[in-house]
Amino acid sequence: MSRNSPPRFDDAFAAQFAELLSWRRDVRRFRRDALPEGLVERLLAQAELSPSVGHSQPWRWVRVSDEAQREAARASFRRCNADALDDYEGERARLYASLKLEGMREAPEQIAVFCDHATARGHGLGRRTMPETLDYSVVAAITQFWLAARVAGVGVGWVSILEPEAVCEALGTPPEWKLIAWLCVGWPEEESDVPELVRAGWEKGR
Ligand SMILES: Cc1cc2nc3c(=O)[nH]c(=O)nc-3n(C[C@H](O)[C@H](O)[C@H](O)COP(=O)(O)O)c2cc1C
Repeated sequence: MSRNSPPRFDDAFAAQFAELLSWRRDVRRFRRDALPEGLVERLLAQAELSPSVGHSQPWRWVRVSDEAQREAARASFRRCNADALDDYEGERARLYASLKLEGMREAPEQIAVFCDHATARGHGLGRRTMPETLDYSVVAAITQFWLAARVAGVGVGWVSILEPEAVCEALGTPPEWKLIAWLCVGWPEEESDVPELVRAGWEKGR
């Protein structure tokens, strides 16, 4: 439904929006209590207002509540994380081992996000020479979800230390769906306007 008079965003809103951007954090430490009924649906509806190439809207959100499926994803994380640790040496390996890089056990909501490469929506507009724009559209929607969640005080953590094949197999998704993200969603245990990796000193040194 279109409306004729767009809202005017005042200076107070602009200042709050700037605050929102600087307080949007990747969250790995969650309280375990459930989110209110309907909140995730509302956030996903807001995320789906995001742009997409040719208006293809290729995002597919899979809310994973089955414990066996969640455990399959956690097992994949453990394998990938161990392999990643093997690639580091000395002090950097010690620091990597100390990082918390997911909230897959604690966060009450776990959402696997896919890009549907088989979608006919958009009739291919805009992606003939840059097919990767379909994936970019999903990333844009995830960013919007992240911000919408933060407005509601909800934390989001993006997990990519996973084997896409293992996740797709555990969830039984169609072969044309590409895994873009695994999102942990819930109330944050702590808040900061500084990224956790910066606080942990991961940025320091070479
Ligand atoms: C594509 C992508 C993948 C990410 N994967 C992980 C991950 O597997 N584990 C993790 O702890 N953080 C992950 N992050 C979060 C980043 O580490 C985080 O965004 C960055 O350190 C900056 O912190 P901030 O989001 O709090 O500003 C990912 C972020 C993006 C955009």
